[in-house]
Amino acid sequence: MTLPKPINFKVERYIGGLSEFKKIDNPIKLSANESALGPSPKAIQAIEKDKNKIFKYPESDSNSLREVLSKKFNIDPKRIICGSGSDQIFDLTCHLFLEPGDEVVVTEFGFIMHRIYASLYKAKIIIAKEKSFKASVDEILGKVTDKTKIVFIANPNNPTGTYLSKNEMLNLRKKLRSNILLVVDDAYFEFLNSEDFISGLDLFKNSNNVLITRTFSKIYGLAGLRLGWGYSSKEIINAMYQIKPPFNVNRTALVAGIEAIKDNEWTKRAIEHNTLWSKKIFSVLKKFNIKTNEPTANFFLMNFDETKINSDEAFERLAAEKLILRKMTQYKILNALRLTIGNKEVNEHFIKSVGSILK
Ligand SMILES: Cc1ncc(COP(=O)(O)O)c(C=O)c1O
Repeated sequence: MTLPKPINFKVERYIGGLSEFKKIDNPIKLSANESALGPSPKAIQAIEKDKNKIFKYPESDSNSLREVLSKKFNIDPKRIICGSGSDQIFDLTCHLFLEPGDEVVVTEFGFIMHRIYASLYKAKIIIAKEKSFKASVDEILGKVTDKTKIVFIANPNNPTGTYLSKNEMLNLRKKLRSNILLVVDDAYFEFLNSEDFISGLDLFKNSNNVLITRTFSKIYGLAGLRLGWGYSSKEIINAMYQIKPPFNVNRTALVAGIEAIKDNEWTKRAIEHNTLWSKKIFSVLKKFNIKTNEPTANFFLMNFDETKINSDEAFERLAAEKLILRKMTQYKILNALRLTIGNKEVNEHFIKSVGSILK
């Protein structure tokens, strides 16, 4: 019997953060950069209120959420497209721009989904070296050829936790050919408060050749609902609507997202929590000779070269304390683990555990 034969895409699969490990009861997941405090209670209320309507389709183009986003960020709703996670925006972007043989520049340790989607559309992935786990504008520019269509950059980047300054980003856009699309992934921008940093949206909202992505999975604590959005020129966004699946954002995500965005108090609290704990954890990591990035987001990339145990052993020993971190094997970052900042109780438990493991 001859069976239908699917195309072999030969695309690397994304390895998500582990939720469980061996037979550990009630593991504490610190492997996916999820929110420490969870979503706004107002988002939960909105979900409760809408739950009897889930037999109805959602709005096709997320108009009500776009209106709220437009007011909050002072941007044009016609230039916004919402997606099932920012993932879907990467997918639509690659679908819209890439043909086999096109080149896409990513940075060495850049967020891996960017290159996964670009490979799905058969683009050639060109890797720009980083310097001390930080993207380099010169290296990116050095990789550009006449086949380059897109440059992806997450700022700050996951998993390195480093970022390009406002001036570096401006320089990058200025020196890139104007017909190369610069995609700036703003997933963690809310956590970073530094004088030399500005979000992709604030920096490029008037540019026609930049596409910015944002997510509800991090500061807004709605990772499970899959909600994100993109912002670019009218031409690009209109072309994306042309290929977007109808009803791509489910109605639960829409009602929750609207309340999450409006709840400034909750967002402020989540940022304050992260600022406080990222400082504390940073100094603990330093004390134990774990090399890491400055606090910039809700996670740390931890290197174990100068500790008495290596990252594999640290992973196992922390797992024995129920703490599941992210291995960096897929990113090919040696002797390292990534830690997501949790709630107070979890962070205290981590600090105590790391202390007893490395003492
Ligand atoms: C840099 C970066 N961009 C995007 C995402 C994913 O966002 P979403 O859940 O909206 O698809 C993540 C999630 O880990 C991320 O680290």
